Amino acid sequence: MTPNLTNPYQPIRAQVEKVIQETPNIRTFVLRPRTPIVFQTGQFIELTVPGFGEAPFTPSSSPEIEEQMDVTVMKAGKMTAALHGVQPGEWVGLRGPFGLGYPIGDFVGKEILIVGGGVGLAPLRSLFFALVHRLDMYERIVFCYGARTPSDIVYRKAILEEWPKLDPKIVFRMTVDKGDDSWKGNVGLVTTTLDNLDVSVANSVAVVCGPPIMMKFSTLKLLSLGYQPEQIYLSMEKNMSCGIGKCGHCQLGKYYVCRDGPVFSYDQIKDARETWD
Ligand SMILES: Cc1cc2nc3c(=O)[nH]c(=O)nc-3n(C[C@H](O)[C@H](O)[C@H](O)COP(=O)(O)OP(=O)(O)OC[C@H]3O[C@@H](n4cnc5c(N)ncnc54)[C@H](O)[C@@H]3O)c2cc1C
Ligand code: FES
Repeated sequence: MTPNLTNPYQPIRAQVEKVIQETPNIRTFVLRPRTPIVFQTGQFIELTVPGFGEAPFTPSSSPEIEEQMDVTVMKAGKMTAALHGVQPGEWVGLRGPFGLGYPIGDFVGKEILIVGGGVGLAPLRSLFFALVHRLDMYERIVFCYGARTPSDIVYRKAILEEWPKLDPKIVFRMTVDKGDDSWKGNVGLVTTTLDNLDVSVANSVAVVCGPPIMMKFSTLKLLSLGYQPEQIYLSMEKNMSCGIGKCGHCQLGKYYVCRDGPVFSYDQIKDARETWD
């Protein structure tokens, strides 16, 4: 669905069906909008908590499911704290979708390397569902994910148990910055999951989402592995207001993140001063 063009600032009411506590500070909200919101994976919506304001989030659910939308939110400040207080049965507002998502048509026939950190897994979960929906069209998915500690792993059961078993074409590489007694896996920054990669770089695209510092060092590592800037896609987060290319709050070089992104190839934004801010 294209945004409400008569009034793009007017939210649609959406009922909160379920709230899933993913980690101590991240929750997934399963929403049922009154009017289905059809989005492309990687696009974003503006979510309003009545009385507290709105903020941009990227749906973490499958774009194939129109009547339900999942949004995975880390508690950061005033609005997200208010959202974390919302209970099943209550209402929020949604407007969108906005911006440009992942160009998955260009990923056909390729090995797709996904690199995620922290709550950056939200858009990547949506992307993963979209790719799995037509897995026959892609060569392989290599999914690298890093969390600070084992208790910070988002979508824990899916990522540790379910998704790695879905298909031999899907490979998972997990790491945590700091382990604990229960953790038997890899310990190290997410960039260590890119060591000894068994990927044909020439026939690959890489998709990176996470905190700016993680995206910066993952991108530098990918470049050192031979990825070209146009093979690397980044989901950029900048402070937003209007969400529709009018106010200029989200400027990134010559682009507006809300209108020209949030997904950019590194080639598009590599020379912008604010890329890693
Ligand atoms: C396109 C897009 C998609 C996003 N998707 C998600 C998502 O799926 N899940 C999620 O948890 N968060 C996502 N964010 C970030 C989310 O919008 C911010 O965390 C939220 O706006 C913070 O609002 P607040 O009032 O709670 O915090 P504030 O009080 O506004 O700020 C708290 C802290 O967060 C920083 N911050 C505020 N707004 C942003 C922003 N837009 N981007 C980066 N840092 C910000 C501030 O500098 C401050 O350090 C996304 C942002 C964008 C632009
Ligand atoms: S948020 Fe207003 S121009 Fe992007």
